[in-house]
Amino acid sequence: MTVRPIRYLGDPALRKPARKVSRIDDSIRRLIEDMTESMYAAHGVGIAAPQIGVPLRVVVIGLPDEPPFALINPEVTKRSGERRLDEGCLSVPGYRGNITRSVAVAVKALDEHGREIRIRSEDDLLAQALEHEVDHVNGTLYVDHLDSKDDLIKLDAVSARDED
Ligand code: NI
Repeated sequence: MTVRPIRYLGDPALRKPARKVSRIDDSIRRLIEDMTESMYAAHGVGIAAPQIGVPLRVVVIGLPDEPPFALINPEVTKRSGERRLDEGCLSVPGYRGNITRSVAVAVKALDEHGREIRIRSEDDLLAQALEHEVDHVNGTLYVDHLDSKDDLIKLDAVSARDED
C-alpha cells in the first residue's frame, strides 16, 4: 500500500467528471488500498480517486471507529430534505465551509468484489460523506455549494483535522 499525494483546489484533476469502472480487478483493489492509506494519512473520513489524480469513479469512506469501505461507480438514487452543515475537504486544507446538504441520502454502488451495495443514511456524518464523495467523482467540490465567501472559514493548524 502506498500513500499518494492529495491534489488540491486548483488542480484540474479535481474538476473532470471521472470515468466509470468497467472491470473490477486487482488494479482497482490496489487503488482502493492506496486511497484508504492516503485518507488515513491525511486524517480524512473519505476520499475519492480524483483526489489522488486517478480519474475513476471510486470512493472510500472511513468514519471514526468504523471499518473503511469502498464504493465503485456510486450513484445517489434518492435524496431528501435540507440541512446546514460545516464541511471540510482534504483537497481544501485549512478551511471549512457552511453549506446545505440533504438530510437523507440513498446510494447504489458496487463493492470491491463487484457486488451491488445499497446504503441509506439519514441526518448523520455518513449521509454527508456520501454526498461529498459522489460530488468528487462528478468534479464538484464543497466550495461550489457555498452561498457566499462569508460561509468559508479559515482554520488554525490545530483544528484543521477530520476533513473529507
Ligand atoms: Ni473532499
